Amino acid sequence: MKQVLVLNGPNLGQLGAREPDVYGTQTFDDLAEACRLTGRTLNLHVEVRQTDDEAELIGWVHEAATARMPVVLNPAAFTHYSYALRDALAMHTAPLIEVHLSNPAAREEFRHTSVVAGVADGTIAGFGLMSYQLALQAVAELIAVREAAGEETVPG
Ligand code: DQA
Repeated sequence: MKQVLVLNGPNLGQLGAREPDVYGTQTFDDLAEACRLTGRTLNLHVEVRQTDDEAELIGWVHEAATARMPVVLNPAAFTHYSYALRDALAMHTAPLIEVHLSNPAAREEFRHTSVVAGVADGTIAGFGLMSYQLALQAVAELIAVREAAGEETVPG
């Protein structure tokens, strides 16, 4: 089974309590469980992590880059200003999908810029927990396409 990391940035551990009108009432544990279940249907082993700490998140990205492990990433507010996170992600060669629960393009202007989008394979936003499930499907497809093209595959 291929390993996939689902990484989450600041305040996402507060899901359920945090602005439920924007982010819904499901908790972070619900999100993690939904990701693991979706992973199982796709033959992916999914590990879900969350941190409020930029340095810790960057450390996880380094870990994924070294192991060539696919990543689904919700950088939360770091999306909009963390050049350090972007630089770390630029080293990453395995599939990388940026996700958001809400649709930042439909919200305040400062959320319209993503400094990480340019180094991701793609972005899925606005579908709540389904954003993560769609991202995991994209990871599975990208792995299959890259293997079919004879590219070096991610470790399984
Ligand atoms: C978010 C959107 C960001 O603008 C915000 O800072 C978050 C969550 C989302 O999932 O919709 O913390 O990444």
